[in-house]
Amino acid sequence: MCGIVGYVGPREAAGVLVEGLSRLEYRGYDSAGLAVAHRRKVTVRRTAGRVDDLRELLGDSPPRGTTGIAHTRWATHGEPTGTNAHPHTDASGRIAVVHNGIIENADVLRAELTARGVRLASDTDTEVLPHLIAEALDGGAGSPAEAVRAALSRVEGTYGLAVLDARTPGELVVARNGSPIVLGVGDGEMVVASDLAAVVRHTRQVVFLDDGELVTVRADGIEGSARITPTTVDVEGADYALGGHPDFLAKEIADQPDAVRRALAGRLDTRFSTTRLGGLELDPRDLRGVRRVLFLGCGSAYYAGEIGAGLVEELARIPAGAEPAGEFRYRNPVVDPDCLYVAVSQSGETADTLAAVQELRRKGGRVIGAVNVIGSAIARECGSGVFLHSGPEVSVASTKAVTNMTVSFAMLAVLLGRVRDLSVADGRRMLDGLQALPRHIDAVLESDAAIGEVAKRYADASSMFFVGRTRFSPVAREGAQKLKEISYVHAEAYPASELKHGPLALVDPAMPSVVLVPDDELLAKTVGTIEQIRARGGPVIAVTDAELPDGLADAVLRVPRTEPELAPALFGVPLQLFARHVAVALGRDVDRPRNLAKSVTVE
Ligand code: AGP
Repeated sequence: MCGIVGYVGPREAAGVLVEGLSRLEYRGYDSAGLAVAHRRKVTVRRTAGRVDDLRELLGDSPPRGTTGIAHTRWATHGEPTGTNAHPHTDASGRIAVVHNGIIENADVLRAELTARGVRLASDTDTEVLPHLIAEALDGGAGSPAEAVRAALSRVEGTYGLAVLDARTPGELVVARNGSPIVLGVGDGEMVVASDLAAVVRHTRQVVFLDDGELVTVRADGIEGSARITPTTVDVEGADYALGGHPDFLAKEIADQPDAVRRALAGRLDTRFSTTRLGGLELDPRDLRGVRRVLFLGCGSAYYAGEIGAGLVEELARIPAGAEPAGEFRYRNPVVDPDCLYVAVSQSGETADTLAAVQELRRKGGRVIGAVNVIGSAIARECGSGVFLHSGPEVSVASTKAVTNMTVSFAMLAVLLGRVRDLSVADGRRMLDGLQALPRHIDAVLESDAAIGEVAKRYADASSMFFVGRTRFSPVAREGAQKLKEISYVHAEAYPASELKHGPLALVDPAMPSVVLVPDDELLAKTVGTIEQIRARGGPVIAVTDAELPDGLADAVLRVPRTEPELAPALFGVPLQLFARHVAVALGRDVDRPRNLAKSVTVE
């Protein structure tokens, strides 16, 4: 959630670090700081606020030095103040540390340090680290790496961290356990970061650290346990630039036709009316052996999993479900050897989902990933799966990754279906529908301005309902989630059939309902739901691919007709646009909603 950047090389570090932090600001943003080593001295600058505040603090005289570390913080232990901002140092100022994750036994370690006469300056868990490292060096550790290893042996919890020692200014010690660290291998320089976003402007050659790895990074190489052969990532600096869009959310919503094309590329087998998902590493016999499918994810990834479960049941006729990963991991689940577990995650770093995967693997469950970020912890822990190929998502609210999750689950469902009873004709119908999806999304995007007008009319509502049934029930949940997280307008989602069992009591002229009205076998019933809402004075915004009677709804957002099984992917798009327009009308920071971070790497 927080962001780490480190630099070793020929350039002045401060500029590289601040620029890198600005690329990571979306991950966490209540304070920022940096430390640079020069002439056996470490200079630290920290401030509450955003990276711009740090930039202002540095002004025209940033600290000099070509090795440094930096951090953007999202507070967990201690208020978001300058004192609690990273880097933290030991009493002598020799050691500086930036850290993502949580040190669970920090209270014990703080008490021990205090008892030994150490004065702790902050309320953070992180501050114990520089003191423990300094103690290890004073106690005879032969190198900074050895001292960091000794300090970490005392720590319970998760970390991705970078350590700077004033006495070895040409190197950083970097370690990972549960919080991502990537090393960018440049030409005579190294960039360390918690996220590719801070690296790809400098190099696309990267090394992803594994949990438990600790390395010393110098301008000319990496020393330690890491596999030091870099891989090339297919991500560019432009992926992290607005490119003319007003915000990353707008950019990522607009990118969806291309993102879907990327997800489909090379995976549709028109000869056999099926799909090719080689990354699953499941042959037809394995696929036939799957008796159940369970999708595990958090937030929007969980709702996408619910859509996936519906697709698998409909197309493959295998029982399927979805569960929040954070609940699954703690309820001592019965792990079924015939079940295919699917871990769903955009970032691939969500702590709850990763823990669910680890629990499954420990119990011998078969788990695959549906992950966007290649090289991420969940992708590597699963070892096989389907990459989403959405391209980088910067905005906190997930959009194109959610759409590509649905598209990937449709391909998985076709694959499972075609080794069972899904007919050639239906397989073909699904492939055609998938190929047409980018075009249909384009058509929805063209109605952006009209959706904006509707959103403005309802932006002052203090609460909204999102209503959909069967396939569209999770779409409604995701629509409510998008609205809540970026506009702070309260929203609840209900299956249409549930409204009359309680929530209808809340319907009045101040409570708009966004109703999903697909032209399917339940159309007449959904129209009935709209009439019930309007009979209580509730305004209705209908999202539909059907021809509705004039005046049935107060506003209509039109969606092109597609294959009914794929319609959930399409109906999600106007809901994203709607949520964004409400948020913009209310003056929200749509890319960086309050209290949230892009990847939730802590519990
Ligand atoms: C989505 O808009 C949310 N920001 C959030 O629910 C997110 O989907 C969830 O935290 C899971 O993230 P992941 O896909 O990176 O695992």
